[in-house]
Amino acid sequence: MENLLTLARRRYALRNYSSQPVPDEVLRYILEVARMAPSAVNYQPWQFVVVRDGILLQQLRKVYHREWFDTAPCCIVVCGNHNESWHRASDGKDHCDIDIAIATEHIALAAAECGLGTCWVCNFDIEACAQLLQLLHGIEPMVLMPIGYPVNNEIPEKKRKSIDEIVQWR
Ligand SMILES: Cc1cc2nc3c(=O)[nH]c(=O)nc-3n(C[C@H](O)[C@H](O)[C@H](O)COP(=O)(O)O)c2cc1C
Repeated sequence: MENLLTLARRRYALRNYSSQPVPDEVLRYILEVARMAPSAVNYQPWQFVVVRDGILLQQLRKVYHREWFDTAPCCIVVCGNHNESWHRASDGKDHCDIDIAIATEHIALAAAECGLGTCWVCNFDIEACAQLLQLLHGIEPMVLMPIGYPVNNEIPEKKRKSIDEIVQWR
């Protein structure tokens, strides 16, 4: 079985998707992995909107204008519910972003395990997306996660800072 380091190295931001649809059972597996993510006080302040419907997908593409984004046959919109997230008493810090980031990366890794590609997208029109999906007040679309099979199986080289640059042993 593939270890976590190999999987983490294999996951990358895919920006060219095949039109091959993602089977429902694969999506359910990925969402189950997301459901297992930890969250502050275990509040689980997330909602996952799986967009596969052709018309809705076309409308969603308008909230993030990139040719490559249009190629994805499916997109999971990861939403954070600020009414459910933990706000630290000492300073009021909302931990929603942290919780959503963990669940989103669970999705990315689970998808990679299934031979699928994903790409975190945060640079989209949040308001237009919330309106399109008719999200209730306090629920913020935080990440667009296009998901699908890669057109080719080349894994780009990882550009990362060295361990020495990022770790302090004390
Ligand atoms: C929080 C976050 C936001 C991101 N937003 C975007 C985005 O809006 N558009 C995009 O093309 N890539 C986006 N990315 C992808 C990053 O550019 C990519 O993960 C990074 O360059 C590392 O490359 P890798 O994922 O292939 O290892 C985002 C990644 C993260 C973690």
